[in-house]
Amino acid sequence: MVNHQQAFDEIRDVIGDRLSQKKADRDAHGQSETWHRAPPPDAVAWPETTEEVSRILAICNRHGCPVIGWGTGTSLEGHALAVAGGLVLDLMRMDKVLDIAPEDMLAVVQPGVTREALNTELRATGLFFPIDPGANASLGGMAATRASGTMAVRYGTMRDAVLALEVVLADGTIIRTGTKAAKSSAGYDLTALMVGSEGTLGIITELTLRLHGQPEDVAAAVCAFPTLEDAVGCVSMTMQSGIPMARIEFLDPIAMRAVNLHSGTDYPEQPHLMIEFNGSPDAVSANAKAFGEIAEEFSGQGFQWATSPEDRSKLWAARHASYWATLKLRPGATGVVTDICVPMSELPGAVAAAARDMEDAGILGDIVGHVGDGNFHTLLLIEPDNPEELARAKEVANAMARRAIAVGGTVSGEHGIGIGKRGLMQEQHGPAWAVMGALKAALDPKNIMNPGKVVPDPA
Ligand code: LAC
Ligand code: ZN
Repeated sequence: MVNHQQAFDEIRDVIGDRLSQKKADRDAHGQSETWHRAPPPDAVAWPETTEEVSRILAICNRHGCPVIGWGTGTSLEGHALAVAGGLVLDLMRMDKVLDIAPEDMLAVVQPGVTREALNTELRATGLFFPIDPGANASLGGMAATRASGTMAVRYGTMRDAVLALEVVLADGTIIRTGTKAAKSSAGYDLTALMVGSEGTLGIITELTLRLHGQPEDVAAAVCAFPTLEDAVGCVSMTMQSGIPMARIEFLDPIAMRAVNLHSGTDYPEQPHLMIEFNGSPDAVSANAKAFGEIAEEFSGQGFQWATSPEDRSKLWAARHASYWATLKLRPGATGVVTDICVPMSELPGAVAAAARDMEDAGILGDIVGHVGDGNFHTLLLIEPDNPEELARAKEVANAMARRAIAVGGTVSGEHGIGIGKRGLMQEQHGPAWAVMGALKAALDPKNIMNPGKVVPDPA
C-alpha cells in the first residue's frame, strides 16, 4: 500500500492533532454495519470548517491520497470503507444548525448534524424534517447516499429534501449548487448530481434542506394479515386508490418476531402493515376509514391504534430498530441486506419471489419494506467469515436484484451502492454507467474521492 505520510504531515500543519494515525481511531473508522470488511484507513481527520476541508483535499489531491467522507458509519453497503487506503474525513465535528428560516420552510445545516438533532432544534417552530432512515444518521451522509425511510411515500427522499449544497471538490475548490428558491431551471442540476454520489465527487460541507409543517393530527396503527399476499395486495390497492398515506410499512412474520423480542411487544407472528395518517383531524379520520375498508377486503384484522405521541414514538422506534432486532435472531450473525425498489404493479410478485428464494436457499432472514414506494429489504442472517453462507446469501440477493432490473426497477431504493451493489451497476445502467465514470473522471481526475465505489474503476 502507498505510504501517504507526506500528505498526513502537511495536514497536521493545518489541523494539528485533529489528524490521527492511532490504531484505535483507524479501527473505529474502518467498521461497517454489515458484512463488508476492509482494512482500516491509514489516518483519520476531524475538520471543523469548510476551509479546512478544502485545504485537506488540496493536499490529498496533490499527493494522490484517497479521501473517504464519514458521518455516523451506519451505511449498509460498505460505502465508507477505505478499500484503497488513505484518509477518512470524519465530518461529525461540523455539527451546527446554521440557520432555520420558518417562513421559507428551510434549514441550513452542516453535514454532521443528525436527523434527530435537527428535529429537536425544529420542535418549537412547527416544522419538521421527515426523512428517517433506521439509524440516527448524519444529514451529510444521508444526502451522500440519497437516503429515505418510512415517510418517503409522503414526503419524498433526500432527492426532494435537498435544495442546495456547498461541496468541496477533489482539488479543494468550494462550490455551491442550487439555491434557496423552490425551483430553478438555471443549467445542470449539480445538486441532484451530488445527492447520491456517495463521496465520489466531493465532500458535502453544508446543506440547505426543505422542511415541512408538523401535521395537526397524526394516527398510527398496526394491522395483521393472514398472508404476505394479502398484506402486499392491500398496499397496492391503497396506493392506487390515492389515499395519502404518511407511512405504510410491511413486516413479515420473522420481522414481527424480531420486533417483539427487541421491543417487548407481543404482536402475532403474522405479516403486518404499520401505517400512519396525518393532516387535519377530519382528513385523518376519513383516510383511516378508507384504508380500513381496503384492509378488510384483504382480511386485515386486529387493528391496534397508536394515537398518543408516546405510543406512536414507540411504534416507529420499534420499526426503526428492526435491522438490529433481526440481527439478534441469530446471535453473532451479520447481515446481507437487499434493497430493491420496483414499480408498484410488480411489488406483490417481487415480495413473493423474495420470500420463496429465501426459503429455497435455507437462509434465516426477514422481509421489511417501505412498500408504498415499491421498496423492500430482505435481511439475510449469515455467520461472519463463512464463505459458503455468504455465497448463498449473495446468490439470493443477486437474484432479487436481477428480478428488479428485469421489471424496470432498481437494485437500490435507498441504501446506495457502496461496494455491495457495485457489481450490479453495469446490468442496471448499461452504457450510462460509463457516463457516471466519465463525470467522476472530469471532477476527480486523480481518483482520490472514495475510490472503488459507485462508478467503474478508471481504465
Ligand atoms: C430499514 C433499513 C434497513 O428499512 O433501511 O429498516
Ligand atoms: Zn429501509
